[in-house]
Amino acid sequence: MPTESMSTEVYAGRVTDFEDGRRALVNVDGREVFVFERDGRFFAFENVCRHMGGPVGEGMLIGKVEAILDDEGRHLGDRFSTTDIHIVCPWHGWEYEIETGICAADRRIRLRRFEATARGGEVYVRG
Ligand code: FES
Repeated sequence: MPTESMSTEVYAGRVTDFEDGRRALVNVDGREVFVFERDGRFFAFENVCRHMGGPVGEGMLIGKVEAILDDEGRHLGDRFSTTDIHIVCPWHGWEYEIETGICAADRRIRLRRFEATARGGEVYVRG
């Protein structure tokens, strides 16, 4: 009989534990995973920056820098996006999209992503 691979589900805390930008670190199958909430949704990634292994989960969340162009495509300035959010590794500033884990500077590189869900006021991460 074939054995099905079981995915691990780990409790990460109560939904209220993530208020005010607080984050959690959990161990999923031996990997350190950070968990956070943004606009009512939960995100989880391995806490290992793909550059030199820095604790990317301690980084700031910022909007992607977008160019402001006029109707002719002339550059008027830059602004921070309010919808495309990046997490910035505190060691050397590599940025990753929180929706995908993809590195902003090189889309071939991405953080390992985990599924984070809220259920009954509690947050779980699935490996
Ligand atoms: S270790 Fe993350 S940017 Fe260098």
